Order: sequence, then structure tokens, then C-alpha cells
Amino acid sequence: MPYSRREIIHILRSAAFQRAKGDRSRAHPLCEEAGQAARTVFGQTIYQRGVIEFSSQCDMACLYCGLRLPNTRLDRYTLSHADVLHAVDTAVQCGMGTIVLQSGQTAQPDPALIAELVSVIKSRHRVAVTLSLGEHPEDVYRLWRDSGADRYLLKIETTDEALHQRLRPGQTAATRLRHVERLQRLGFETGSGIISGLPGMTPDILAEDLIRLSSLGLEMLAVGPFIPHPDTPLGHSSRGCLTQALLAMAFLRLQNRGANIPATSALDSISPEGRILGLQAGANVIMPSFTPDTVRGAYSIYPGKNRPGSKAADIATALQQRVLSAGFELTNITGNSKTPLFSRLPRMLEGTL
Ligand code: 5AD
Repeated sequence: MPYSRREIIHILRSAAFQRAKGDRSRAHPLCEEAGQAARTVFGQTIYQRGVIEFSSQCDMACLYCGLRLPNTRLDRYTLSHADVLHAVDTAVQCGMGTIVLQSGQTAQPDPALIAELVSVIKSRHRVAVTLSLGEHPEDVYRLWRDSGADRYLLKIETTDEALHQRLRPGQTAATRLRHVERLQRLGFETGSGIISGLPGMTPDILAEDLIRLSSLGLEMLAVGPFIPHPDTPLGHSSRGCLTQALLAMAFLRLQNRGANIPATSALDSISPEGRILGLQAGANVIMPSFTPDTVRGAYSIYPGKNRPGSKAADIATALQQRVLSAGFELTNITGNSKTPLFSRLPRMLEGTL
């Protein structure tokens, strides 16, 4: 590992200090180093994942998230299969090589229906399918894997047990990690990630999160800054800092050279150039939303997440233009991770020997 825990904490702290002095003139050298590391592995190529947020139903009560069950101000929706398949067609036409099906974590929909949706998508298009549906029993994960799902995203949010339990009532970081490992063993390309700048998250906790995440041999890693949602108990907390989120991403790149790392849309909620800065700081993936405009405003994880009104394809095209203007190239290939097998193997074999 190129950086020690002490160095990571020191850099995260000093970045906060620089920001306090108002020094925003240029990228942190670490972000430049991470950008170069990403270009060495992926060139200028950026992978594209079309996200379809097909249901805003959620049984959880995470203090930071607008989809939380106690938020009664949200219009809940679940798209029909026909609507999802239409959104998939649009995403593929716009050049997406991967379709990400995302919803809140809920026991409501029949897992067999999701399995059916996955197999229909796989039979119609040459795309990878990623599921991002929260924690489920092992036999459900297996059903979805058998139906053709290639990848699974399950963000740990923070590995700090006390903070995790405070922000995710009734849940533990240890269980979340066990689910991540289970998904790896089932053969999914597995992704996880954290929210930086969560209320109560110190530089020490963030550093520990980055180290723990990097020890898992994951194929996908993500950091998004915390954005307060007014209809949650954390609505009055301050948002995460852009520099800190970019530095956290840069560390993940430097410690996981072959992993797929998205420039998260939360970066754009903080700064109009947030996602481009993310790509320059080591990300190699964009994930535009193709949720139909009739419901996209209602998938309100945090403010600014999905602009209502505009057509998904138009928003995606505008993002693609920004990415191209910044000197990157776009591809429609599925873009599997380049995480070396030797770092994944121990997790994959665990429990099977
Ligand atoms: N700010 C930033 N990210 C958030 N997420 C949920 N709520 C927020 C918020 N207020 C992220 C979590 C979740 C993903 C879908 O969105 O990481 O896993």
C-alpha cells in the first residue's frame, strides 16, 4: 500500500486546512497522481453505466437518505417492466455498456420478477447488468446471479461501527461487510463505497474507511460527498467537502489501480464541474441516470440527485459532451474491472475450501 494510515490522515486534514485558507486554485498533487494512475490503466477511455432507478420503495431508515421509510413527503413509485425496458433501450442507444438497476432496499418486490427483468435485458442487449438493491438473503443473490446479473453494488457507507449504527438504525457495518463478501463469493463483480463528510465522520474514520475498502479486492469502488436532504434528520447538517471527496477518491485509485471508480453524481451536486474533477482525480466511469422523466425527480436520495422535467437522454448527452470537451473518450463496451485476480482470489475462495 503506497500510503500509510498516518499519511492519509495528514493529507485529509491538511486539505481541510488549505480549503479554510481559500486555496482552491489548483488540484491537489495527489489528485493529479491518481488521474495519471487511472490513465496508465484505462487511457483516456471512460466507461458508461446507465442507471435506472426503478423503484423508490425502501424499508430502511438511514438518517442521511431521502428514500428512508419515515419520509412521508416522498412520492413512492415502482416502474413497470415495460417502462424499465424502454429506459434500457434509451440507455443502450445513448452508448451505455452497462445497465445498473437500482432501488431502495425493500423486501416488497418478488425477487423472481427482478430475475426475469435481468434475463430479458440480457437476452435483448449485449450489456452487463449491475444490481444495486441493498441487502438480501443469499438464495436471492444466487437467483439474480443465475438470471444473468454480472455485478452488484452494495455501499458500506462507513466501516466505523459506532457511526454506522448511529446513521443506519438497526444495521451494522459488520453485517454489511459480510454481505459484500457473500456477493464476491457468488461470483458477482462486486462494488462498494462510502459517503465522505457524513456528520460525525472524522479524517481518522475516513482514512480507516479507505484502508478497509482497499483491503477487500473489490472490482468497483465509490466515494460520494454527503449532501443534506431537508426531509431527513440530517437536513441541517453541513454537506461534505469537494476537496475531501476528491482526495478520498484519489486514495482509492492509488490503492486499487485496476478498479472501476465512478465520478459520482453527488460531486456534481456540489460543483458544476464536480464529475469532471472526479475523472481528473482518478475516476474512470460515469453513471448517468436513465430513469424516465415522469418519476426521476421523485428518486430523491439527496437534493440535486436527479433534475426533474428534462429528458434523461438529453441530460446524459450534455454530460457526455462535457466529458469529451475535457479531453476524455467515451466507450460503449461493458468495461469489466482490471482488478488483478490475485487480490480477488482470497475472498472468492473463502468458505469454499
Ligand atoms: N448524500 C450523499 N450520498 C447519499 N446516499 C444516500 N444518501 C445520501 C446523501 N444524503 C448514497 C449512499 C447510497 C447511494 C445510493 O446514495 O451511498 O448507497
